[in-house]
Amino acid sequence: MLPRISATRYVTPLKEGGSLPGIVEASDEGTYVLKFRGAGQGLKVLVAEVIVARLARLIDVAVPDLAVVDLDQRIAKYEADEEVQDLLTASVGANLGVDFLPGAFGYDGSQPPPADLAERIVWLDALTANVDRTWSNPNLLVWHRRTYAIDHGAALYFHHSWPSRAPDPDRFAAQPFDASRHVLADVATDVAARHADLSASLTPAAVEQAVGAVPDGWLEPTPWLADVTAVRAAYVTMLSARLQNPRAWLPDGGLP
Ligand SMILES: Nc1ncnc2c1ncn2[C@@H]1O[C@H](COP(=O)(O)OP(=O)(O)OP(=O)(O)O)[C@@H](O)[C@H]1O
Ligand SMILES: [Mg+2]
Repeated sequence: MLPRISATRYVTPLKEGGSLPGIVEASDEGTYVLKFRGAGQGLKVLVAEVIVARLARLIDVAVPDLAVVDLDQRIAKYEADEEVQDLLTASVGANLGVDFLPGAFGYDGSQPPPADLAERIVWLDALTANVDRTWSNPNLLVWHRRTYAIDHGAALYFHHSWPSRAPDPDRFAAQPFDASRHVLADVATDVAARHADLSASLTPAAVEQAVGAVPDGWLEPTPWLADVTAVRAAYVTMLSARLQNPRAWLPDGGLP
């Protein structure tokens, strides 16, 4: 489970960030980048953030700590900026907090991670179909000389079709991944060779635990997934199917 805290102050919007994430202070004295439940992309983006960050840690890819951050109506009321006020009002309830890494800088290639870490990051992105780690949007931070992966909201995009279609694990398992535009493509020299090792860390129980970290309230039932238990099981099934079909999505045509 993720820690559950409350926002005590809205500080400022982040200058970058398509979804208008903001910086908040929270009841644990921490400072968080808040990903709002009421942002245009909806709750599924928050679900992807949690699941992929949990998978990342299982293969030793550093990610900032996450927390569920409750936002109270009163914080929205005192916000002067109208656009932000609307977003805060639409986001009363449980939002995603990403521990703010002060002074981190955006990845620019000047301090590339070791090949070993780059391969793990590309492998994770290929597994979760995360297309959002390119030079135009690296979504990597360097903090105290360490590379952190952030912004996984675009991964697991299959769930956006769930309101209108039943989950299709075979289709996701067979979806290729184009690693050529990945920001670490040149550093991650042998991703395919890592598959055996990395997939061994993502046992069915580990994947289930990663999915288990998502709060119930973010898992939206559909006509095919009647309750949160069914939605959770669907994520596990989709990921397990893809893990078992690496030839389809590993960069460079599959296994060594
Ligand atoms: N935990 C963090 N610590 C410090 N800075 C952060 C953190 N998370 C995000 N940022 C900064 O805020 C920017 C936007 O965050 P993020 O990419 O997660 O949001 P987004 O709305 O999904 O953005 P986009 O859609 O533009 O990629 C990042 O590129 C980074 O500069
Ligand atoms: Mg981003």
